[in-house]
Amino acid sequence: MFDSQPASADLPPAPSSPAAALPQLPQPLPRTGQFAGRVAIVTGSESGIGRETARALCAAGAAVVLNGRQAERLELTRQQLAAAGYLVAACVADVTDYAACETLVATALREFGRLDILVANASISQRAYFADMQPDVFRQVLDSNVYGAVFPLKAALPHLLASRGSVTFISSISALNGMPSGSAYCAGKAALTNLAHTLRLELDGTGIHFGVVHIGFTQNDDDKRVLDAQGQPVPIAHRPPRWQKTQAEVAAIIVKHIRRRRQRTVISALGWLIAIVHTYAPRLGDWVVLTTMRRMRNFYE
Ligand SMILES: NC(=O)c1ccc[n+]([C@@H]2O[C@H](COP(=O)([O-])OP(=O)(O)OC[C@H]3O[C@@H](n4cnc5c(N)ncnc54)[C@H](OP(=O)(O)O)[C@@H]3O)[C@@H](O)[C@H]2O)c1
Repeated sequence: MFDSQPASADLPPAPSSPAAALPQLPQPLPRTGQFAGRVAIVTGSESGIGRETARALCAAGAAVVLNGRQAERLELTRQQLAAAGYLVAACVADVTDYAACETLVATALREFGRLDILVANASISQRAYFADMQPDVFRQVLDSNVYGAVFPLKAALPHLLASRGSVTFISSISALNGMPSGSAYCAGKAALTNLAHTLRLELDGTGIHFGVVHIGFTQNDDDKRVLDAQGQPVPIAHRPPRWQKTQAEVAAIIVKHIRRRRQRTVISALGWLIAIVHTYAPRLGDWVVLTTMRRMRNFYE
């Protein structure tokens, strides 16, 4: 009879204390702030705008799951936000991998017990003309911007439906009209607009919010890199500093967009100019781009 028992090596280790035997309970959520009691995932939040959006959501009372692919940098960001007194957890996950996105969502549920907000921010950008690009590089950039938003959303959707939650796709003003040397990036960002629109129609009446934020020129972390035509990481093209918003300014606008459950937010006067010219005078818009391409080629490259 004893022979039919599993060998002790196959048994789970005995709990060292009664507490270790209990399943982990979600942490209590902050009780103050506009997002008190809400839990958010911000993808690609180990750096840049994602990190500042996570910080701004925390400052407004949310608990936030941070995400990125570099464990060390992600942990550093988690520690910075935790040291500021914010409730944060972190999950290393490549958001173009669906199984990793399931783990990301499971982290929010395990740590905080619910999920209310998804900010699909992770993205890889490029500095490469289409004719020069290796096909795999095009795919990598497109995947990060399309499946990098679709997969976290697909994994999170049942929980966001349950909480009548909010989904924000982080896009760019370059998705409004296209941008030379940004073919895969612009195509991926533009796809998010149509995805959001379609999901609004499919899920009408469920109470879930789908919005898109078109970001303009923003200050970058010094170590931000984009891909060149061969897939090598390179610094991004120079932008005049006076044209750039700070990451904190952009994060505050994203948080306002979520709070107001807006369908579309276009950041900056230049963004609105592009949107209006593209809609009402598209040939004028193209003339401006083609002229600046000839005169300021390094602006795009
Ligand atoms: N900065 C601007 O001027 C500007 C303008 C328009 C739009 N935007 C948009 O704003 C968002 C944030 O941009 P940013 O300037 O803050 O760029 P960033 O500093 O490069 O941040 C992007 C983040 O996404 C992460 N990431 C990339 N691919 C990922 C993947 N597959 N899985 C998980 N994480 C991934 C990156 O971390 P790892 O690579 O280490 O994983 C990084 O933390 C992006 O959607 C971007 O397109 C920015």
